[in-house]
Amino acid sequence: MGMHDAALLAELIPHAERLFDRHVGAAREWFPHEMVPWGRGRDFVAGEAWDPDEYPMADAVRSALYVNLLTEDNLPYYFHTIDNHFGKDSVFRAWDRRWTAEENRHAIVMRDYLTVTRALDPVALERARMAQMCQAVVPEPDTVVDTLVYVALQELATRISHRNTGKLLDDRVGFDIMARVAADENLHYLFYRDLVTAALEIDPSGAVAAIERQVRDFEMPGVGIIGFSQHAAAIAKAGIYDFPIHHEQILVGVVLRHWKLETVEGLDPAAEAARERTVTHIARVGRVAARYAARRQEAGVPLPVA
Ligand SMILES: [Fe+2]
Ligand SMILES: [Fe+2]
Repeated sequence: MGMHDAALLAELIPHAERLFDRHVGAAREWFPHEMVPWGRGRDFVAGEAWDPDEYPMADAVRSALYVNLLTEDNLPYYFHTIDNHFGKDSVFRAWDRRWTAEENRHAIVMRDYLTVTRALDPVALERARMAQMCQAVVPEPDTVVDTLVYVALQELATRISHRNTGKLLDDRVGFDIMARVAADENLHYLFYRDLVTAALEIDPSGAVAAIERQVRDFEMPGVGIIGFSQHAAAIAKAGIYDFPIHHEQILVGVVLRHWKLETVEGLDPAAEAARERTVTHIARVGRVAARYAARRQEAGVPLPVA
């Protein structure tokens, strides 16, 4: 049994204050309107059918743009989840609001870019946004530390996905927009990642148990989006976000190397068992990822490598 949420939160507050200041110092102000290529746009006539040939691109890249944007749109519900867990009278509230405002900027720049360039069907996109936001499906981890682990992994996964999507756009402007958004996601990731590091010191058994649950159940944001599983399959096939990336960058890069799961000290017997199961699980994902990568290499699929 880990610490109760209120006790953990109280101990996390000084860390959150330091990390919030670090975030505000590192974040650079930027303006969506300065990045969007307005000159490439023209009016939509009422009832005009969208023509994919106006901006040809691989279906998988369209899938990634669609899922990534709808996920940004869904941020009010992520806010709701973290705001409920983190309490209403500390630096966490300032963070929650700032985070939400920054994510909203991502939705603004991406939607403006996609509308001006006609990269996605604007009618289908708007209907999907309405459907997504009316359902309000988001992960709802049970505890504070589960929430922190989930958002840390999710922000890094989102950074990778935005960045790789931009690399597959045959357009410098689109590349720059996705890179700019990915840079923000990186700062979000660092905030949450380092709070988990603090939680591992404050309550190692509780944090390790949460890592096990969140690693085991991890899903990319976007569950609940119309057609999500087909889009996710296309995104994986194109190498934008797939098993090898998930294994190498998330599970090995963060859980094993950064959080040093294998050497966390002071675990109770239940947490020791959770750690062992998680290490075994990560190794298993690694084997699946290696087979996946080998099959793709045989098929000769080009990947979004810089
Ligand atoms: Fe975002
Ligand atoms: Fe983010």
